[in-house]
Amino acid sequence: MLPGSLRGASPRTTEDFNFDWRFILGDDARWSEAAFDDASWRSLHLPHDWGIEGEFSQAHPAGVNGGALPGGIGWYRKHFRTPDAPRVAVEFDGIYMNSTVWVNGRKAGGRPYGYSSFNLDITPLLNPAGQDNVIAVRVDHSIMPSGRWYTGSGIYRNVRLVCTGAARVAYGGVYVTTPDISDAQATVVVRTEVDAPDGTDYTVSHRILDARGRTVAKGADGTLRVRKPRRWDINDPYLYSVETTVRSGGKVTDRTVTRFGIRSTAWDADRGFLLNGRVVKLLGVCLHHDLGCLGSAVHRRALQRQLEILTAAGVNAVRTAHNPPTPDLLDLCDEMGLLVMDEAFDEWRSGKTRGGYGRFFDEWYERDLTDLVRRDRNHPSIILWSIANEIAEQGGRTPEANEANRALTRRIADIIRAQDATRAITCGGHQLSSTNNLYTSGALDVIGLNYRPHGYDSLRVWFPGMPIVASETVSAQNSRGIYYQPSTGIRIAGWSPFAGVPRPSEEEMRGTIPNQCTAYDNCRSVWSVTDTHQNAWIPVRDRDYVAGTFVWTGFDYLGEPTAFGWPSRSSYFGFVDLAGFPKDPYYMYQSEWTEGPMLHLLPHWNWTPGEKIDVWAYYNGADEVELFLNGRSLGRSAKTRDRLHAFWQQVPFEPGRIEAVSYKDGREVLREVRETTGVPVSLRLTPDRSTIAADGYDLSYVTVEAVDAQGRAVPTADTMLRFRVEGAGELFGVDNGNAADTLCLKGTQKALFSGKALAVVRSLRGVPGTATLTVSSALGDASISITVR
Ligand code: GAL
Repeated sequence: MLPGSLRGASPRTTEDFNFDWRFILGDDARWSEAAFDDASWRSLHLPHDWGIEGEFSQAHPAGVNGGALPGGIGWYRKHFRTPDAPRVAVEFDGIYMNSTVWVNGRKAGGRPYGYSSFNLDITPLLNPAGQDNVIAVRVDHSIMPSGRWYTGSGIYRNVRLVCTGAARVAYGGVYVTTPDISDAQATVVVRTEVDAPDGTDYTVSHRILDARGRTVAKGADGTLRVRKPRRWDINDPYLYSVETTVRSGGKVTDRTVTRFGIRSTAWDADRGFLLNGRVVKLLGVCLHHDLGCLGSAVHRRALQRQLEILTAAGVNAVRTAHNPPTPDLLDLCDEMGLLVMDEAFDEWRSGKTRGGYGRFFDEWYERDLTDLVRRDRNHPSIILWSIANEIAEQGGRTPEANEANRALTRRIADIIRAQDATRAITCGGHQLSSTNNLYTSGALDVIGLNYRPHGYDSLRVWFPGMPIVASETVSAQNSRGIYYQPSTGIRIAGWSPFAGVPRPSEEEMRGTIPNQCTAYDNCRSVWSVTDTHQNAWIPVRDRDYVAGTFVWTGFDYLGEPTAFGWPSRSSYFGFVDLAGFPKDPYYMYQSEWTEGPMLHLLPHWNWTPGEKIDVWAYYNGADEVELFLNGRSLGRSAKTRDRLHAFWQQVPFEPGRIEAVSYKDGREVLREVRETTGVPVSLRLTPDRSTIAADGYDLSYVTVEAVDAQGRAVPTADTMLRFRVEGAGELFGVDNGNAADTLCLKGTQKALFSGKALAVVRSLRGVPGTATLTVSSALGDASISITVR
């Protein structure tokens, strides 16, 4: 039960509304009715994605580009007592898609766009205080594909029940800006929109708190001052918050807390992006929203783990390709010091997919955009609004169509600026032309160009004075742990007649594995113009005026296995695989984007005598690297301006060990070894965290490897595994990063792929104790215990 809303100092209560839902796949109009008996439906807790629970099949209408997983129509229902509060609202962070919500059989609202957050005031629909109510949600994901990637289906983000007094802060109604910042003082402007019944008198006041909760300023709506501000920065993501109090009729009727940062941003056509007056090159990745074997079901720990893995490679920026993210991601970026390009749409009016946003655009774009900006505008991490990705409206068939598309671009930018004029507006553009309607609309602050590094210099000539960002780059394709010899020359992943690319010759395909790519960074996608990670990074590195890059992609994602067909069902683009295991190009970024020192040697050393193997080493903090094969030096190699790794070509394999040693000024810095292993004899389980919270959300990611008699992980092992969890946890997902593996990611079986697999253990709410994961295989069983408290 909720506490009474007007007791005590804070009349706002926010209840986690994720628990005790019932769910069914199917459709029946009676399921919205209050009296309907849903006792036979499945019980679950949100966030929930029913798509990921399905079996992979090429027969699903989503196709392999949509992840080869099911959609359809599903319903959720939940019973709850009427809280004792004047105003009650339900906040949905996102429902995919086309949702309709009823309370006690009466329609409360809904949302077509599956990435929009929305808030419904359900006060007038509730039964008297203390009585039972039922909320029913219909989710219609029946027209597929609805996106060019895996979207997920269901109430896949968090839901909250918010109770307040009658005069309350409107949803997204607090707006904090920091127009003037000096070492001595920051001006903090707070504007509040209050949602109150007609004729109600109210006042608004604020208190600014530092990260330790100490009051540093107080005042009414308008301008406040913080002395000696500590700036939010990527290296010191310091957060303040503003506590907003609404008073009416002599009582406090609402109180909210809004986090913000004190930081300045600027864009410069020659120097790129400036944070707090200093140039920061954007070392970014594009991320889709799915979380691998969790599907799209939002779990904060899963997002945090993604960001931890990425920041360890030096990533400092994220583009939320190609849609509004869950707010949890933005909270994490605020806390971890990542910069964000917050993107609204992949489709405008012209659409891209049968069931996609194009069919809702005209009716909804203004509302969706407004809500997005109002929801997100206080996050210090966000530095760019992106209005679109690769939309057809960049061009037009007639002069009138072009003018209409430019006008639409201006309209969209105006909608954003009406809610937040402090951030730059950009787009992911892929029509490299001086007449691109988005570029020429006059509405953009920053030109975003996807791929086409040969275009950076042209843009500078065509649009002098405009800052430029490489909004999307690379699209290389790699499979973790697979190495095609030789590594010189460029390979094309898969093949399709797309873009007139000639079919690879027999010779080029020799030694390749169906539906897999090589992990060496010499594999490009069929259409790509920038080929490899290295070749896409160099032109950005070398141009100060290109503000930075957003690599396609940081993590692999479900869907879009370009240019492979079934059984491939997830992408090969990530420099981290779907399970979260880094592929080798990850270390190229780490060597370029961190100070180090680091050293990474590839490939593994399990080959057949007589094979000739290319050996690479990524490194930094050193001048050169020496390679030893069974103690014999094979010479020293250094990276160059255009080759970002040390290289030993076609080393004749002999069993034993290769060892790389990096040197700086002649002194050893680091060593890295790869040894030829024996056959696998047992399993090894390694959790990323061995203690998790008993909240029903927290996760432990357990890596499974097969080891030889000497305990060395066997990099080529492909042992089949069976998983089970007993005690205070549940098995929540399994994966191995193989984009062409068709066993269910929510199942209990997975084979090792290139020597690794992953099991995700989720805690149960309110059930402390021990969760025991047991993995069985032909090599025997292995178990691990996770403490849950
Ligand atoms: C880009 C597009 C991305 C993704 C990528 C795959 O053009 O913006 O969404 O489709 O290609 O290579």
